[in-house]
Amino acid sequence: MAPKVLVTRILPPQTQAHLLEQDFDLFQWQQDCCIPRDVLLEKIKGVDALFCLLTEKIDNELLDAAGPQLRVIATMSVGYDHIDVNAVKSRNIALGYTPDVLTDATADLTVLLALGASRRIKESIRAAENGQWGKWAPTWLCGSQFTNKTLGIVGLGRIGEAVGERLKAFNVGRIIYSGRTEKPSAQAKLNAEFVSFGTLLQESDVIVVCCALTKDTENLFNYEAFSKMKKSVVFINSARGGIVHQDDLVRALDENLIGAVGLDVTTPEPLPPTHKLYTFPNCVILPHVGSATYETRENMAGMTLQNILAGLDNRSLPYSI
Ligand code: GLV
Ligand code: GLV
Repeated sequence: MAPKVLVTRILPPQTQAHLLEQDFDLFQWQQDCCIPRDVLLEKIKGVDALFCLLTEKIDNELLDAAGPQLRVIATMSVGYDHIDVNAVKSRNIALGYTPDVLTDATADLTVLLALGASRRIKESIRAAENGQWGKWAPTWLCGSQFTNKTLGIVGLGRIGEAVGERLKAFNVGRIIYSGRTEKPSAQAKLNAEFVSFGTLLQESDVIVVCCALTKDTENLFNYEAFSKMKKSVVFINSARGGIVHQDDLVRALDENLIGAVGLDVTTPEPLPPTHKLYTFPNCVILPHVGSATYETRENMAGMTLQNILAGLDNRSLPYSI
């Protein structure tokens, strides 16, 4: 009998075609929005494999709804804070994700946000579009540049290292990083220094958040952390919204404690258009598009399908958590 497979979105074209060639009893959510929770809970009943995105919460309720034949879950994401990993593993369900392939795309976007925030891209675009170009003057729309500045990377994993490599090319003067552990090889490549979180907050001109969301990093950036930063700091988060205490970020912006902000992630996602964060001219917000290149999304989908196929064959997953 063909295995029952649930796929929660339409996939990039090559992988979508590959998916449709499989001998699956397939249910695929076809609409241009996330699968509603009640539909997911209904459709997961009796499936052998689940292909999901980071928009689906994978918890005991869902696993109970699925039933005992579920043997593989593969998420088309590198982050897996939407998954209760222990709950999945304790049921002997194989679990896959998509490491490495999105490192370049996400690092590129992080640099774009850092440059955009520090060079006041949001105000500049608005000024051009709103007929204010005539205000041009020597200090009009001036921001700050990275030359000789201190870059602070929170979490020197694959993405953090790739961001460091890119920003080196902008002639930053010094790279410091904090995190759970020292990363000797990335540190040597970047000529970076491992420092305490407090030191990183105080000494960085540009702070990029590249760590995973865990119990330890949840709300790591709270009011106290923002208070320690330089008033001119450029603060970038392309990792997960939950690492930032968002109300404290709003307060820090209100009180001019920080210079400029770039976010690709927020709490919640989507961030409602009426949210106060959008009102700050020095806060650039993107709708979680770090990995959004055709190349990367096709690779991520392809890896997720490979994980599903391996799991259904009872082979170990090529990209397993
Ligand atoms: C993107 O945020 C991912 O985790 O893939
Ligand atoms: C994620 O891929 C990381 O390790 O930074």
